[in-house]
Amino acid sequence: MPTELPASALYSHPSLGRLWKKVHLSCSPFLHRSELQRLYCLPSARIRKHFGRQSYSLIALGCADGTKESLLLKKLPRPTSLLALDTNLSLARRAARRLPAFQKSAHRADLTSSLSLQFLSTRLSPHPTLITLFGVLPNLNPLPLLRSIRRLMKKDDLLLFSANLAPGQSSHTGALSILPQYDNRPTRKWLEAAILRYRPKLPQGHLEFGVFPDPKQKTLARIEARWISPRKIHTVFSSRRPTSSQVEAWIRSTHMRKLARYLDPLGEEGLWLVQPSSHPASFSRDPNSPKR
Ligand SMILES: C[S@@+](CC[C@H](N)C(=O)[O-])C[C@H]1O[C@@H](n2cnc3c(N)ncnc32)[C@H](O)[C@@H]1O
Repeated sequence: MPTELPASALYSHPSLGRLWKKVHLSCSPFLHRSELQRLYCLPSARIRKHFGRQSYSLIALGCADGTKESLLLKKLPRPTSLLALDTNLSLARRAARRLPAFQKSAHRADLTSSLSLQFLSTRLSPHPTLITLFGVLPNLNPLPLLRSIRRLMKKDDLLLFSANLAPGQSSHTGALSILPQYDNRPTRKWLEAAILRYRPKLPQGHLEFGVFPDPKQKTLARIEARWISPRKIHTVFSSRRPTSSQVEAWIRSTHMRKLARYLDPLGEEGLWLVQPSSHPASFSRDPNSPKR
């Protein structure tokens, strides 16, 4: 089994944040397809209906520079407060500058760390809260992250998250068809820079891209960049590519309820608006793990 680098190792240094942004500008379908940009404007009507005239707060998790949140907020009232959180503090600060809110703050956070999540729980506002999570579920283990977010949510809070989908019915075949979005020069340059910075130092090697089953959920395909060296293989980058029905199984298993779903016409990306459905104390196990 390859050793995995934490996703934060690819983003947390300012220079890596800049290289990631270059990859995003040149390779991300989001920048090149207007349907994908429109997708992030669509949920505002349903969110307005949910909050009515109440004030609300916004927590933008893994927000980078807040590009997608700014599309969403175009048709929403200005939030009372904004908390922009990312492993890359300079990107989170850019998001806080860009996004409208009456009070703003930006923080470095590691969404896989219970300490960061505890910090977040101390910063929650009494207002109903909209939590956004765009482009993060592909990189982090989805069920623990969704469970942690669910635990933070009050009854009337909303979570709007995106998932990068595998087009078609099969997670594996769909992921193979979009591999060229990852196996390209700008992405290699970004990942090689992250490998050079990583400690303990990785041995000499080379990058190979492929599609593999997610170690935690075998039916879920992950696009991976692996660093191959003579004695060891490291998974440097991974992007999970679920089907829509796999995403909806995650929602149910983390005790949330789908309010709306917005799908890219090509089936490569989707947004889900969800709210808590029941008490979080009794979370079920991974929906795709074998039944006992
Ligand atoms: C693929 S980018 C998506 C950025 C942006 N939300 C978007 O959709 O364009 C993943 C983001 O998650 C952040 N990130 C990765 N691992 C993280 C972690 N463990 N904790 C907090 N943020 C993390 C990265 O810094 C980066 O901004």
